[in-house]
Amino acid sequence: MTKFICPICKEPLFGDKSLKCSNDHCFDRSKSGYINLLSGKGGNHGDPKEMVLARKSFLDKEYYRPLRDDIANTAKDITPTDATVLDCGCGECYYTQRIAELLPNAHIMGIDVSKDAVNYGCKRNKEFDLAVASVYAMPVADSSVDTAVSIFAPCATQEFIRVLKPDGHLIMVIGGENHLWSLKKAVYDTPYKNETADYTMEGFEFVGKKEVKYSIDLNSAEDIKNLFSMTPYYHKTSQSDIAKLDNLTRLTTEIEFEILIYKKVSV
Ligand SMILES: C[S@@+](CC[C@H](N)C(=O)[O-])C[C@H]1O[C@@H](n2cnc3c(N)ncnc32)[C@H](O)[C@@H]1O
Ligand SMILES: [Zn+2]
Repeated sequence: MTKFICPICKEPLFGDKSLKCSNDHCFDRSKSGYINLLSGKGGNHGDPKEMVLARKSFLDKEYYRPLRDDIANTAKDITPTDATVLDCGCGECYYTQRIAELLPNAHIMGIDVSKDAVNYGCKRNKEFDLAVASVYAMPVADSSVDTAVSIFAPCATQEFIRVLKPDGHLIMVIGGENHLWSLKKAVYDTPYKNETADYTMEGFEFVGKKEVKYSIDLNSAEDIKNLFSMTPYYHKTSQSDIAKLDNLTRLTTEIEFEILIYKKVSV
């Protein structure tokens, strides 16, 4: 059963293959299992298929397994066992899957604006309650989520506040100062370190952070390029700089993440 609500009138949705609200707004479930609740017309949005596949290929090789495990352990520590967990910008549900494994009685929901990403998420776990939707207009009831997760996805503070229960938590993941430093040095003549974060967020109390630091050995040009294509600066980089990676088949690079934990401030 889905916990998503009608994006038009905000009433609950009922049904299985075809979902309806009490006002007869109707939404079909895709073959793989997600519901398209994107309000407004238009084609696909968010990450295109080639980007989704590059990320999936990289993540499935478990280079980010330590991060995945730390995120899931953090979620487990702060979430009641039978909770509702919402991954906001879930991609192909690589991290969502581990959270679900550690919280087997939780109802796991995920939202992403990319149909291709959500499609692969459904294939990863058929039990997930997944929808194509924007984090800026989530088809999720007010005060219904125990833990929201936002991993390298757009930060929709007002929506996080709205959907979280009064004592709900938000987990956000960001890159640390030296994240991918050696990869950046391979691409840019003058690389910059990541800016240090300001942890304050309106409507939330900052509970604490976990740092995840290690290094990875990449042994193929494909993995190196896939990793670079996952970075936020990929689209801002010139083709000539990206081409510097063409003949690079081995690279050891720094991994530095911060897992930030927030608690909703009750008003
Ligand atoms: C860098 S990826 C991270 C995906 C996943 N959290 C992970 O770490 O594997 C960012 C994701 O945010 C999605 N996205 C971008 N804008 C969005 C929006 N407004 N609402 C929901 N998802 C969005 C993209 O489609 C993409 O899947
Ligand atoms: Zn409706």
